Amino acid sequence: MDDRQQGYDEQAALWNGVAGQGWVRAQRVLDRLFEPMEAALVQAVVQRGPGQVLDVGCGTGATTLAVAREMGERGRCIGIDVSGPMIDAARRRAENEGSLAQFVCDDAQRYRFAAGSFDTVISRLGVMFFDDPVTAFRNLRTAMREGGVVRAIVWRSAAENPFMTVAEQAAAPLIPSLPARQPGAPGQFAFADAGRVSDILERSGWADIAVRRVDFACGFPAAELAGYVTNVGPVGRVFGDLDRDTRERVVRTVLPAFDRFLDAGEVRFTAACWLVEATAPSGEGLHHR
Ligand SMILES: C[S@@+](CC[C@H](N)C(=O)[O-])C[C@H]1O[C@@H](n2cnc3c(N)ncnc32)[C@H](O)[C@@H]1O
Repeated sequence: MDDRQQGYDEQAALWNGVAGQGWVRAQRVLDRLFEPMEAALVQAVVQRGPGQVLDVGCGTGATTLAVAREMGERGRCIGIDVSGPMIDAARRRAENEGSLAQFVCDDAQRYRFAAGSFDTVISRLGVMFFDDPVTAFRNLRTAMREGGVVRAIVWRSAAENPFMTVAEQAAAPLIPSLPARQPGAPGQFAFADAGRVSDILERSGWADIAVRRVDFACGFPAAELAGYVTNVGPVGRVFGDLDRDTRERVVRTVLPAFDRFLDAGEVRFTAACWLVEATAPSGEGLHHR
């Protein structure tokens, strides 16, 4: 098996297994936490006007639903995600609120989109997991109408996002099997290097590429912290496999490590991200690449 196939299989297995199930369980707190990013993406669609919008790595659908709500009958928002459990949750939400949003469960890197069918691609933290990002962004670009745009929010580095690694650092002595992060590998911080992101977009045929720093003030009730830690991220992924005693010790050890992020009953932190923007050039531009 080649490295790319293996990379895809690992991500697909993760998001169809523990990671996806953890995100479904923690959906309410995650949507609260990442609401400022949802607002920014909805705003980006509003600025361009209604149309055909694709939400890549849409997960349980918060941003897809928010954009569909905003556009009403004037446009369509389709979410694509490789995770069966997360797409099932997104479809349930859409049905419950009578949304026009639609969802596809598939790999956005390989899915055969109808060429030239979207005006805008959005993503909230959903494009860092491709085994071959250039192929993936080329695939997304061919799905765009001429002049269509991508607006994707991705994480900057782990060093700039200390909140995101608190749990694993505190839990590491108790969970020797906790997998170490692999810099640059598909995953949360794969797009931390802005130069690499620009290069990926350029090589996949996008134009007018901009990678801008953007910080989001995020928060959620402190009472939700244990649920967050035990469902999401590297600790959340292994938590269910630990014996009861270790689980209790992990919770007792990890929660106090978040003290510096607590303020008046709320967890508060800054999400250090890039807003990645680019345009699908005209057919002529594509021809010369
Ligand atoms: C960090 S979650 C973000 C989910 C959602 N955008 C949100 O903000 O709630 C990353 C998402 O990317 C999805 N994903 C990973 N690789 C993918 C791929 N190749 N194609 C489509 N989705 C993918 C995962 O299943 C997961 O739902």
